[in-house]
Amino acid sequence: MAKLPKFTNVKDVTNLQTWIDEALYLKRNPLVFRKLGSGKCLGLVFFNPSLRTRMSTQRAAQLLGMETMVMNVGSDGWNLEFVDGAVMNGNTQEHIKDAIQVMSQYCDVLAVRAFAELKDRQADYQDKILNAFVEYATVPVVSLESAIGHPLQAFADLITIKEHQTKERPKVVLTWAPHPRALPQAVANSFVEWMQESEVDLVVTHPEGYELAPEVIKGTKVEYDQHKAFEGADFIYAKNWSSYTEYGQVLSQDESWQVTAEKMALTDNGKFMHCLPIRRNVIASDEVIDNSLVIKEAENRLFSAGIVLKKILENI
Ligand code: CP
Repeated sequence: MAKLPKFTNVKDVTNLQTWIDEALYLKRNPLVFRKLGSGKCLGLVFFNPSLRTRMSTQRAAQLLGMETMVMNVGSDGWNLEFVDGAVMNGNTQEHIKDAIQVMSQYCDVLAVRAFAELKDRQADYQDKILNAFVEYATVPVVSLESAIGHPLQAFADLITIKEHQTKERPKVVLTWAPHPRALPQAVANSFVEWMQESEVDLVVTHPEGYELAPEVIKGTKVEYDQHKAFEGADFIYAKNWSSYTEYGQVLSQDESWQVTAEKMALTDNGKFMHCLPIRRNVIASDEVIDNSLVIKEAENRLFSAGIVLKKILENI
């Protein structure tokens, strides 16, 4: 049987520049492929909350002529069992492999959001829920953010950078920023992976103890001095993440890492980016956020999702 198309990370992109060009074409002509998805249904399965991903992916599907169904598994579904061979005489009522195969009967594409639990690094980095969908679904699977990656967000961020870059090879800085709660590394992981595939000079800055997974960071430059990292930058992408090495821990809430107008002044007229939702005056100041690309990134979620769905529809 032919392998199903899927979109779970940057490796599923056949040609990144073509995909960006197509996304920008779709942005200019949002209804041009409206017959492609006629009669097809996208199922969106959420284990966790969402605003942008839920609305933009549904709208992207609708612009392609698809119907959509949303299932809030985390709040409305049966308690799912993940262990193979489990004797299900406890609190779990349905096995994940049955649920996924059933949902595949109702939908032509399944998209799933399942965050890291931040308790067990090995378990999270196995990305068990997303991989269960890839294994058991009989239709293509799209990640709406998994335990370790958020590729639709990173694609939208890259589209936004392409639209606003003024240099052939811009300097892009991913900066850790403080947050009161422990957050997954998924957004930061995907941002790094997608920038590594792009014509940019990427620098990652964070306090010691917040090093990303070695298989993600690879040879990317890490600069522990945030001020130094910001110098001459064209784009500042802020995100909080909890520690990978001391897994899931909040090692620092150091307010001095907040992105402020004074720090943005160190850049080369750099533009501030964040995936949203953002805690104002914690991650970045109001002034920085109000003069940023954050709303444009959210808009581009329509077109990153649109091209991903278009590619899948063309191959089923
Ligand atoms: N950026 C993003 O994925 O937003 P939501 O969590 O609201 O979907």
